[in-house]
Amino acid sequence: MKILGTGSAVPKFTVTNDMLSDYVETSDEWITTRTGIKSRQIITTERFEEMAALAGQRAIDAAGLVPEDIDFIICHNVCNCYVTPSLAALVQHHLGITGPNCPTMDLNSACAGFVYGLDICDAFITTSRAKRILYICAEEVTRMVDWTQRETCVLFGDAAGAMVLGEGDGYLASKLTSTPMPDVIYYRLPCEPTPFETGEGIDTHMAMQLKGREVFRMAVSSAQRDIKDVVEKAGLRLEDIDHYLLHQANQRIIDAIKQNFDLPPERFHSNIHKRGNTSSASIPVLLDEEIREGRIHRGELMVFNGFGAGFVTSAAVVRY
Ligand code: UT7
Repeated sequence: MKILGTGSAVPKFTVTNDMLSDYVETSDEWITTRTGIKSRQIITTERFEEMAALAGQRAIDAAGLVPEDIDFIICHNVCNCYVTPSLAALVQHHLGITGPNCPTMDLNSACAGFVYGLDICDAFITTSRAKRILYICAEEVTRMVDWTQRETCVLFGDAAGAMVLGEGDGYLASKLTSTPMPDVIYYRLPCEPTPFETGEGIDTHMAMQLKGREVFRMAVSSAQRDIKDVVEKAGLRLEDIDHYLLHQANQRIIDAIKQNFDLPPERFHSNIHKRGNTSSASIPVLLDEEIREGRIHRGELMVFNGFGAGFVTSAAVVRY
């Protein structure tokens, strides 16, 4: 499998840390020191599926293709207003791909999902069941948080990152893990009541809950383990890797991981200061921005690494 082209899209409305202090008791100083975030983009009047489709169209353009060339659309998404149809089916509609020979499917492995989806795409491409997959990670995390809870609402942003994947030898190794810890990060929506439901569990709504410190610790230790393992699995050394793109959850997490590797610090990329944590979209958006800004080039080696609710982690070695 190989990356043929990338694209991304963010909402037009930028919210600075100072603007957040209108909603909760917080400050630019607290958010900047604890997270590295200065601003983020938040969905206002846009339609989420149109933002995802726009990122997808940009990836198709970058690959030098047209939407009709795509023979599978896979989206990764934790939550959006449509439970069904899938986001991938909505994207197909917005891109004007009439089908029926372009199947669509959604995946969800929380903030670590980007590499989970890459693994699925690789399975379809290496077994010749798809030739050109449009893969989009799109998230509107700002609609999963309680905007009166300063512990969570200041952390997130909305975004979509996309790529077209095709045949090639750019996917060198991957590692996926899952450890059952359902209470460290969760978000529960209510389902429709039935006349048969018992009282327990009817009111299941709970805006995003986050045990931040616990996640912080697990993120740092799992990243150290997974990055070493996946690079070794690819038959490479850490210093052979040109670029490290980690899930953008907190600049302090990235810095803590970075400190444990004896590598030039500029190999660890970051855009969290202007995007916030955009869940599964964070790595593909960062990748697209770094490629477009000329910091990542064809033929270079990259490591992707993420973590999220589950508790799940993922890592991959990819040649661009
Ligand atoms: O992508 C997966 C999801 N991402 C994560 O789970 C992120 C991982 N965790 C983190 O990045 C950090 O743990 C946080 C940024 C969430 C929190 O940073 P922290 O250094 O672990 O702070 P804390 O939760 O220990 O809170 C320290 C203090 C508390 O006050 P007291 O108890 O010391 O008086 C909080 O109430 O900071 C307070 N606080 C805030 N103050 C101002 C928490 N949120 C805010 C805020 N503004 N927004």
